[in-house]
Amino acid sequence: MGIDFHSKDNSKTYTTRLADISWIREVKQLLPIGNVSRALDIGCGGGIYTKALADMGISYVTGVDFSESMLEGARENCKEYKNISFVQGNAFETGLGSNEYDLLVERALIHHMKDLNACFAEAFRLLRNGGFYLVQDRTPEDCVIKGDANHIRGYFFERFPKLTQKETRRRHRSQIVINMMQEAGFKNVKEVKLWEIRKVYDNKGQLLKDLRERAGRSILHELDDEELGVLIKHIDRSLHRDTNIVEKDRWTIWIGEK
Ligand SMILES: C[S@@+](CC[C@H](N)C(=O)[O-])C[C@H]1O[C@@H](n2cnc3c(N)ncnc32)[C@H](O)[C@@H]1O
Repeated sequence: MGIDFHSKDNSKTYTTRLADISWIREVKQLLPIGNVSRALDIGCGGGIYTKALADMGISYVTGVDFSESMLEGARENCKEYKNISFVQGNAFETGLGSNEYDLLVERALIHHMKDLNACFAEAFRLLRNGGFYLVQDRTPEDCVIKGDANHIRGYFFERFPKLTQKETRRRHRSQIVINMMQEAGFKNVKEVKLWEIRKVYDNKGQLLKDLRERAGRSILHELDDEELGVLIKHIDRSLHRDTNIVEKDRWTIWIGEK
């Protein structure tokens, strides 16, 4: 099992929400966004964060993904934006020009790859001197936080412990990410933690529908339909609130400068 990013069935899975203001504020606090005119979003999926970068006032944003199916969803999602384009490419070797970009964002990408060396070397090549690299992912510690009324993901692992092993194995430890970014040539590498609002649901029904569709949650592709039904029932019973559910996830952001 596991998600197939190349399947047409998944082309809209990373388009079903907008980046929350909590993410936009954090990025603006971490980086001099006013100085960024060309940004890249690699592993862009359906373009949620490509769009957020353009909305921050960045003059031109290019989204890159190795899946043509994801890019189809992303193009549709961002069709109103004249300052966004999408190209197919692999994070290890994008085929894009060297020393051209002021900012490169890779959100929720690195847990899908084992060879961080090649990914970070490509990032370094793409950025201009003084450009910033922002990597966002979960560490194994971020993944095992208990479920509660806001941290819905925690329930996945509580109800299906087999997912914990899968999840923590594919996530990179923070110190390893930091060391490898430094080895790739990045300086002033730092780590920050972020509780990002993923989505706000008017009622529980909306959240349960989102879960049933496995929207934007690759880990749920590790469960079959019956198991997913069991998980949804568990979450339904665990949440005592029916309205205004604010779902938050814990992330680690690493910033480096070329
Ligand atoms: C979990 S999704 C994240 C999408 C988006 N960044 C977001 O945060 O909503 C990971 C994305 O990375 C893409 N991807 C995975 N491995 C890749 C690679 N080696 N090169 C380029 N894209 C890749 C997948 O196709 C998928 O769209």
